[in-house]
Amino acid sequence: MILRRFFSSSFRLVSSSSSSSSSKLGGGCHRDGFRAVSSMPEPCQSSPLSDDESCDFDWDSLGFGLMPTDYMYIMKCSKDGKFERGQMSRYGNIELSPSAGVLNYGQGLFEGLKAYRKRDGGFRLFRPDQNALRMMTGAERMCMPSPSIEQFVDAVKQITIANRRWVPPLGKGSLYIRPLLIGTGPVLGLAPAPEYTFLIYASPVRNYFKEGSAPLNLYVENEFVRASRGGTGGVKTISNYAPVLKAITRAKSRGFSDVLYLDSVNKRDLEEVSSCNIFLVKGNVISTPATNGTILPGVTRKSIIEIARDRGYEVEERAINMEELFDAHEVFCTGTAVGVAPVGSITCMDRRIEYQTGADTTCQELYSTLVGIQTGTIEDKMGWTVEIS
Ligand code: COI
Repeated sequence: MILRRFFSSSFRLVSSSSSSSSSKLGGGCHRDGFRAVSSMPEPCQSSPLSDDESCDFDWDSLGFGLMPTDYMYIMKCSKDGKFERGQMSRYGNIELSPSAGVLNYGQGLFEGLKAYRKRDGGFRLFRPDQNALRMMTGAERMCMPSPSIEQFVDAVKQITIANRRWVPPLGKGSLYIRPLLIGTGPVLGLAPAPEYTFLIYASPVRNYFKEGSAPLNLYVENEFVRASRGGTGGVKTISNYAPVLKAITRAKSRGFSDVLYLDSVNKRDLEEVSSCNIFLVKGNVISTPATNGTILPGVTRKSIIEIARDRGYEVEERAINMEELFDAHEVFCTGTAVGVAPVGSITCMDRRIEYQTGADTTCQELYSTLVGIQTGTIEDKMGWTVEIS
């Protein structure tokens, strides 16, 4: 019955005993006895694994790498700016024009959110509406049409249900859901693409960094910048990410976990880490760089600020001079992929600064509260989670 409830707007559902449809959601069996039908493409080649409710996978070996799952979701938007009915199909390659806007001019956005397994075996999403909103804001900046909040959240529910056997057991990770909005129409001159595609795929993941849950060692970058005023640092465009690869690769080759960027004008104020936001803790005060257009407004960032305030911390969103790194007691990073990650050291201007980490830290307190809400072991007073079953 789960599918009947959530495959709402984009798919028509029939009992699996119906013989009226030749197209169905994949070739495997769904134990609830329903399958989706629509004007979907023929299902791709069967997954090497069956569509069983569970998968025989060694969850303890999970890291943050792509593990292809069973289905992806595709919704196209035509020239009139309207998104057509979405379609679910087997996960696989897509066909693109060589002159697609996304390939030639980087017109694209992505999002990241997670589905978490609960103690009772069901699962839930964390704040999918916030990702939908951020995609809308980003789309406006990147001259793209975007799905409505309802279309986005509905599609995320569908992709989670279709790939539900890939939601790891409680405590072993989560299902990372990756929505993309890309210019797929052909362009040659520099202009917005004539057509767009909203696509979602998913992959089970665990720790983002190779350090696992051990503290990170960051490097303050003073050659390369991540974003500049008037640019696109405040939206989740794909074009923000390739330019930091050089800095990350260099830092990793020197033994650091990741890079902390400074503002592009004075190279003085902290901005963010390549894949996450940053927080400094000093006593009861927690500070994080204000989202002034160059900083990504992270959903985890926003949630941690709200949790911290609720727990009595004073939280400041403001410009943070890098000199403040020398006075902080703790530093931690937040992001969907990263979660809440403690920072053990930061190397800034050739000086290594070390921070408190471990069980009795603010970072650990906020992390445990967030994960508790996400997985249902702590009551969700804020109404952030969306139950799937
Ligand atoms: C996320 O945290 O979801 C992101 O999109 C960051 C990405 C670099 C993995």
